[in-house]
Amino acid sequence: MTPGHVNSGTGGAAEKPRLLVRRLSKRYGNVQALAEVDFELRPGEVMALLGENGAGKSTLVKVLSGLVQPDTGTIEIDGAAVTLYPSARSQTAGVAVVHQEYSSVPTLSVAENLVLGQAGVPSLWLPGRLRARARDLLSAVGLDHIDPGTLVERLSVAEMQLLEIARLLVRDARILIFDEPTAALADREIERVLAVIKRLAAEGRSVIYVTHRLPEVFRIADRVTVFRNGRSLPARPTSELNVDAVITMMLGRELQTMFPKRGTLGAQALLQVEALKAPGLVEPVSFVIRPGEIVGLTGQLGSGASAVVEALAGMVSPVSGRVLLDDKELSLRSRAATLKRGIAYCSADRKRDGTFAVRSIRENLSSPWVRSVARRGWISARGERERSGDIASRFAIDVKRLATAVGALSGGNQQKVAVGKWLGAEPRVMLLEEPTRGVDVGARAEIYQHLRDLCAAGLGIVVASSDTAEVLGLSDTIATFYRGRLTAIRPHAEWTVDALVREVMHQEAA
Ligand SMILES: Nc1ncnc2c1ncn2[C@@H]1O[C@H](COP(=O)(O)OP(=O)(O)OP(=O)(O)O)[C@@H](O)[C@H]1O
Ligand SMILES: [Mg+2]
Repeated sequence: MTPGHVNSGTGGAAEKPRLLVRRLSKRYGNVQALAEVDFELRPGEVMALLGENGAGKSTLVKVLSGLVQPDTGTIEIDGAAVTLYPSARSQTAGVAVVHQEYSSVPTLSVAENLVLGQAGVPSLWLPGRLRARARDLLSAVGLDHIDPGTLVERLSVAEMQLLEIARLLVRDARILIFDEPTAALADREIERVLAVIKRLAAEGRSVIYVTHRLPEVFRIADRVTVFRNGRSLPARPTSELNVDAVITMMLGRELQTMFPKRGTLGAQALLQVEALKAPGLVEPVSFVIRPGEIVGLTGQLGSGASAVVEALAGMVSPVSGRVLLDDKELSLRSRAATLKRGIAYCSADRKRDGTFAVRSIRENLSSPWVRSVARRGWISARGERERSGDIASRFAIDVKRLATAVGALSGGNQQKVAVGKWLGAEPRVMLLEEPTRGVDVGARAEIYQHLRDLCAAGLGIVVASSDTAEVLGLSDTIATFYRGRLTAIRPHAEWTVDALVREVMHQEAA
């Protein structure tokens, strides 16, 4: 509980709820996304909404934002029954949302996006005023460096997410909903988002905060509601809980180990990176990956950690330096060239290049290796089915839903498909950016275990991640980056959380 918070818990019982949801249900085909859900939100309160991937969190968010019509159930705002569908009604009722999948229009400018879709924005607003207003909003979320005239498609994923939050500030809403606003962000930006949300709640607005990053919950939420398989558990004050208790509520069981045991590393180098230079790096980078090794690269937004991964994947040019795979020089000229040598790459942005939303799970899972189950140009349906099924079951993807379009999956399940599809390609080296973004704790543990299994088979893995706990728990070797430079590289045992955070912030930390 935040000290001095307007909603002091004790007075809560007498207080009229800002939002009251009763026995809300929503079904998609044969998936019961919400099953008689109860949900309550008080004025000035931050409520964390938690649950495994597919538990129904985003479905509730979509109902409240008027994007989805519920099958049954009632919703009250400040004591009055409301209909929130379609979204214009939800807006009028004072609900504003930052959705899980960003929704800015990429071909418009930042300034235009900031005032899009808002009632009451004068259409003849002078560009100069628009610009000034946009600048204020951008600086509120720490995007001072972005020119309001920039096209949104030029922004990084993190910047887009911060832009979404800036968009929400424009609206004078009573109920603010954030669906995984920090999934794409590094520590620095997360701080900013949490500060913005605290301020909004202190002003008396009510906030629903969806996340898989559980430590955040204890920094920002007054209470916690957990969804399990479309059903709601009664809300609990955060002060009564800890991370383990929340995990047990989410999974319905205890989580034994988050990070699997490390294995032994091969003696020879698998991948040698020598004086690599690429866009986003201001100094050449050198390091070695041994068979069985996970090298974690970490830093703030734009630090260069992702730049290294993208260069090794053959995604960018110009690139210079030498990279040897099994002592043979590797051409980084193109994605096709690196893929051919067994370099698998899983991008941080599954929406742009990770998955094909309209294709089935099976087609997505088999896309990197489908040719290997083809005979004379014909794809073996059986081969594809068997191998996809195998990957799906290893990754806790529902095997019965392999024909479902990936776009219909919950966010975290889409991420599992994006990572899992590379397993069938039998790579030598896996390059991963933010591999567990939006993935629930249970599935995250499974992904980590799987990466370790690959290591045991002699693979080398590079993970670029902004999640400090992940980098520390998963990696054998950790390299930190700051503004385009590799600043330190050491075995995991020589790092602590503090040392890692300090190195990542570098001289910025006073
Ligand atoms: N448009 C749709 N068509 C079919 N099924 C859907 C659709 N939208 C959601 N679902 C299903 O409803 C269930 C709940 O999904 P939802 O997106 O609410 O989960 P979530 O709790 O937000 O998960 P995550 O943590 O992964 O984001 C899932 O099984 C999902 O596949
Ligand atoms: Mg979701």
